[in-house]
Amino acid sequence: MCGVVGYIGQENCAPIILNGLKKLEYRGYDSAGLAISETPDVLKIIRAEGKLSNLERIFTQEPFEGSRGLGHIRWATHGAPTEVNAHPHVAGSIVLAHNGIIENYLYLRDKLASEGREFTSATDTEVVAHLIDSELENADDLHHAVRKALSQIEGSYAFVVMSVNEPETLVVARNAAPMVLGRNENAAFAASDIPAVLEHTRKFVFLNDGDTAVLTREKTSIFDAQGLPVDRPEKLIQWDPISAEKQGYKHFMLKEIFEQPTRIIDTLRGRTDLDAGDINLNEVDLDDAFLEQVNKITIIACGTSYYSAMVGKYLIEGHARIPVEVDLASEYRYRNPIVDGKTLCIAISQSGETADTLAALREAKKLGAKTMCICNVIESTIARESDAILYTHAGPEIAVASTKASTTQLVALSMLAIWLGRRKNTMSAEDGRAWIEALRAVPTAIETILNDLDPYKDIAKQFSSAISFLYLGRGAQFPVALEGALKLKEISYIHAEGYASGEMKHGPIALIDENMPIVAIAPNDDVYEKTVSNVMEAKARQGKIIAIVEEGDDNLSRVADVVIEIPTVDQRVQPIITYVAVQLISYFIADFKGTDIDQPRNLAKSVTVE
Ligand code: M6R
Repeated sequence: MCGVVGYIGQENCAPIILNGLKKLEYRGYDSAGLAISETPDVLKIIRAEGKLSNLERIFTQEPFEGSRGLGHIRWATHGAPTEVNAHPHVAGSIVLAHNGIIENYLYLRDKLASEGREFTSATDTEVVAHLIDSELENADDLHHAVRKALSQIEGSYAFVVMSVNEPETLVVARNAAPMVLGRNENAAFAASDIPAVLEHTRKFVFLNDGDTAVLTREKTSIFDAQGLPVDRPEKLIQWDPISAEKQGYKHFMLKEIFEQPTRIIDTLRGRTDLDAGDINLNEVDLDDAFLEQVNKITIIACGTSYYSAMVGKYLIEGHARIPVEVDLASEYRYRNPIVDGKTLCIAISQSGETADTLAALREAKKLGAKTMCICNVIESTIARESDAILYTHAGPEIAVASTKASTTQLVALSMLAIWLGRRKNTMSAEDGRAWIEALRAVPTAIETILNDLDPYKDIAKQFSSAISFLYLGRGAQFPVALEGALKLKEISYIHAEGYASGEMKHGPIALIDENMPIVAIAPNDDVYEKTVSNVMEAKARQGKIIAIVEEGDDNLSRVADVVIEIPTVDQRVQPIITYVAVQLISYFIADFKGTDIDQPRNLAKSVTVE
């Protein structure tokens, strides 16, 4: 989705803004733009279709300088991804870049057009620029005009705006779209995400919905939705800026796959108590009185986070014996869900900004549920709006395809299942201890997988030209099959379907012939024999079997065309291990095909539109 960077300070800011935009590229975009105040009353603007490198090329041909500016990468919503629709947009003295959707833009556009204003783009953003410019006529200053405009706007926005008439100011506004503010001794920054400016400051302020801010070279002033000055706490971000770099890996996705052992240790750190066979979740603000009465958990999420939620259902229902519903966030709010004060609604989201998940969380809250989130991005909107938070600590995930965020989600869900089971007395200390030991063994098991990538490269060579893949799994491996298929579609553009193995004979078996690779996820679990029977049915129809099995498997590995061996681990943590295997299959197929792995076409990292 779109990304914004704003700067006002002492230095020539074009390189700072372009570099910041580069750090936001992971969000997914299709055009880019830059506006810089060359002199107090001259604003220079360039825009380009496609990748940021196109914008940089234009800039290098005719560079310009200034110490106030804003930049933008756009993921098209209203209007095609053309230069004319790229941000920043200009109206009179106003220059503006925006992330979000203005829902009543057509009404505003007609109104402004009837007052004689002319529009050059098809975007909702240009309407905001005109609206602010028209409000300037009756406003004290730019900030006042922005506030007057906001009172007429419906929708989500995070924007940075400047005016040639106020050369010492940048104005920022936020509602239901991310925006962080940073400051060092020389400058003030506004950005859609921390990595954009992390090399310049570690101190960040997170705006609330409805907030506006005025940035000058000397100070940052924040105002709440009523326009009253307000203090928002400053947070010190501990990440190393380098953790958002590729560090020699060919792609961010590969780097993030390899980071999983360390990130899982980070997720577990300080939260496991082996002696007591229990989990320490003091940070999760759910009191005993609520836990005693909770009678249903609803987990809401999208995409990969949704598949993590499905694994979570197996873990929580199986061991804490609380009924768990799993809902696609985009469906939840429209299905009139049954919710009361005894419902715990858990939103799972890497970014914490996914619009569908946020809307579902708000719906659950409105209906009376207690809310919680499992989230990676600290201070994200979903984290801030949940009653309780369990952070995954996966660090910044840059590749669009989620990897380390999802395995750490599974670890977080495992901890939650143990914690609930121990509190509900459905799990003994001994059981808790065994599960914790299994979780602690996961990083080593993943390292074993990562030490031998040859089988994945072989699969890539043999099957990259396939038209379609089928992924099969049973029990907690069924969501892994769905996740494997999603990952393959996302980054290799090969069609893939995930199916519960037992369901294959009810339809998809018709697709199987000698051209169909079938990834059978079959570790040695309670349903292993059943899975083997289903795979044999596929084999009998000439399907090409890629079997993910435990080391020493003497059954499926005899009939499979390709065997991927994974270490033997406790059944409760098997999905974490098999996730890594399906990630590697898609990564190496996509790499073989030469697709844009970190920024696949049409996709965005943080989907902030419904
Ligand atoms: O940030 P979220 O976890 O809320 O994102 C949800 C999905 O958009 C996300 O998992 C998406 O499916 C990924 N690209 C999967 O790799």
